[in-house]
Amino acid sequence: MSRAGKIDTGPAAGLAAAFADRYGREPDGLWQGPGRVNLIGEHTDYNEGLVLPFAINRATAVAVGLREGRTARLASGFAGAEPVEVDLKAFRPETAEGWTAYPLGVAWALEQAGASIPGFDILIASDVPVGAGLSSSAALECAVATALAELTGAGLSRAELAAIGRRAENEVVGAPTGMMDQYASLLGAEGSAVFLDCRSGRAQLVPLTLEAAGLVCLVIDTRVVHAHATGGYAARRASCLRAAEVLNVAALRDLSTADLARAERRLDEETFRRVRHIVTENDRVRRTVDLLRTDGPGAIGALLDASHRSMRDDFEISCPELDLAVETARAAGAIGARMTGGGFGGSAIALTPVDKEERVRAAVLDGFARGGLRTPEIFTVLPAAGAVRIAGP
Ligand code: GLA
Repeated sequence: MSRAGKIDTGPAAGLAAAFADRYGREPDGLWQGPGRVNLIGEHTDYNEGLVLPFAINRATAVAVGLREGRTARLASGFAGAEPVEVDLKAFRPETAEGWTAYPLGVAWALEQAGASIPGFDILIASDVPVGAGLSSSAALECAVATALAELTGAGLSRAELAAIGRRAENEVVGAPTGMMDQYASLLGAEGSAVFLDCRSGRAQLVPLTLEAAGLVCLVIDTRVVHAHATGGYAARRASCLRAAEVLNVAALRDLSTADLARAERRLDEETFRRVRHIVTENDRVRRTVDLLRTDGPGAIGALLDASHRSMRDDFEISCPELDLAVETARAAGAIGARMTGGGFGGSAIALTPVDKEERVRAAVLDGFARGGLRTPEIFTVLPAAGAVRIAGP
């Protein structure tokens, strides 16, 4: 899909007909929720800090029809996903299983927010790669939240829907993530990044006019798969919370670079580096926003590079494949590159002049081949609109 609203290509193509085949009825409508790239501001969201993601032109589409009673029927094009029938009355967060935890988690969270959700049929299709650090989960949650809220007249704002998606992710899927992904998927706009203050919830659109600057944003999906419900992500979150306690602040957001010397005296070496990443990353987000507003995306390369180094050395969430992608892209002509998302695998982004795109692609593919690594997927993304109805009465 190239633009929100088109259903002739991309994941929504043929979805209404497939829905009719499967369920023997027409859907009430089609909706889509985009994935996201985080331009800068990593692991700052759960520290009540600053992030600057954008919704991308890759999305998850859902065809949905309400039905009598309280049964939900769910089917999706995800590999290995079996169709499922669920009694919503009996649904409990802890009983959700596999991919159905996302749509059912959203239905549950909507009810917790006061909406009344009847039975429904849903068919899901996506072109957001799973586990690539592009928020395939938020894309699904936000598509479902938008669809069910609209069909039931729940009257919730986009920010409220984002909070519902995040609640599903945290309490039903069980991934202890922050708020960035769902806000990006709901509040994104074509040609803009979303500057979000994760303490106040205030979001501002910042122009991200890549084409006008002669740039493309290349995504290099290393195909090293990460999972946020376990492991490193939760460990980083826990050490940030501990550090805030030791330093006696409500959240690491409350520290500035001037506080780092004090932090270094109070913390062990590793925890101090975690804190330094968060504090300097918030600062880099501010500076990126300022530069985008004054000089445009051609001016932010050095900040992207610095962000990657901080994630690699201080927060330690990169991996050899991500470092290789970043270094090779830079050496071949990208003006800035960094891993994006939770880390430990997934994707890097490389801001690249249009006339260097082919060279960067070739260099990265060559570097991975020489290293005996799995061939990465490389594609461009554009800042796109947030979750939206794409068809239906
Ligand atoms: C994942 C989480 C987000 C955020 C990023 C890291 O994408 O879902 O909430 O913490 O990692 O910036």
